[in-house]
Amino acid sequence: MKFAVLTGGGDSSGMNAFIRAIVRATLNMRPETSVWGVLDGWKGLIYNDFRNLDKGSVAGIASAGGTILGTVRVPELATDPILQETAARNLHDNRIDYLFVCGGNGSIKAAHSINTMIQAEKIKTKILCAPGSIDNDVCNEFGSSIGFYSALDKSHEMLEWIKDTASSHRRVYLIKSMGRDSAYLAFYSGIAAGAEYVICPGENVDYDYLATMIEERDRDTRIIVAEGYDQDLHTIRKTLEDIFKKRNVIHEIRTVDMSYFQRGGKAAVSDILRASWVAYRMVKDAYAHADSGFYTAYYTGHDPAPIPLHIAADDSKTNHEGIPQDIIDFAIALR
Ligand code: F6P
Repeated sequence: MKFAVLTGGGDSSGMNAFIRAIVRATLNMRPETSVWGVLDGWKGLIYNDFRNLDKGSVAGIASAGGTILGTVRVPELATDPILQETAARNLHDNRIDYLFVCGGNGSIKAAHSINTMIQAEKIKTKILCAPGSIDNDVCNEFGSSIGFYSALDKSHEMLEWIKDTASSHRRVYLIKSMGRDSAYLAFYSGIAAGAEYVICPGENVDYDYLATMIEERDRDTRIIVAEGYDQDLHTIRKTLEDIFKKRNVIHEIRTVDMSYFQRGGKAAVSDILRASWVAYRMVKDAYAHADSGFYTAYYTGHDPAPIPLHIAADDSKTNHEGIPQDIIDFAIALR
């Protein structure tokens, strides 16, 4: 058999553990199989850029951040039938039996579109996908995405650093968090680090309430702003400063952007283990002739049935745009 592995969308720590596990599990279970890495993600599939992977080529990478295969975004792939056809043809011409994908929301949509093309053209390749993203925006009702907990670790540490200087200077910090239209990374890191407030995408923020909260605190205040919120840090800062001016008080406000730092660095052990476990299950299922599908797990050893790609690619089947009420209640209870 012939397998290929691809990482797509924004890189996330744990993707390398996924690649390593695909290669090792394949070559240990059936050494006659060849494994090919698709270079630069979806771009490499369109430009037919594959590299043979052996056990040595994935040695020592499990905890490393980023992805050794690279990932270049091709947003048009989800909707452009010519690109989908090219990708499907390349899988066919290279005689790939299984393509293993680790990526976020956009990657699962691209995989679903290519899979639809594959079925229409009666190509034999099957696509098995795993969620890989710091955003936790992929079918998060079925577990968390690979890289989410790694990014939380980094965010938590950065928020602690900011606390040191914020409390020393009695300052207010507005802190931007990545996460696209999902507030999970901002919200969970806020809970873990004990931030005073998290502004979520689509929220109708009561700035007078926020200003009062800042005034009532005697030292630092950290307010996390999720990427999907429609105002930038400087606009929020200006709004708060205007309120303080009217109240005739002074609070020093600083802004800081955690974004790309959240994505890099060593993978969390939970991400390494889960990425490896999901990859192992995919390889085992490929040898059992599994159909295309989406694989996830809450923990190592958890073995839920794969989800059909059309469900995994359907935004209405995930709840990433809103934080569940019980999690909001939980956060408020810890304030
Ligand atoms: O999807 C991961 C992510 O980091 C998002 O949180 C963010 O919106 C986006 O990627 C940034 O993408 P880029 O690296 O293309 O700027």
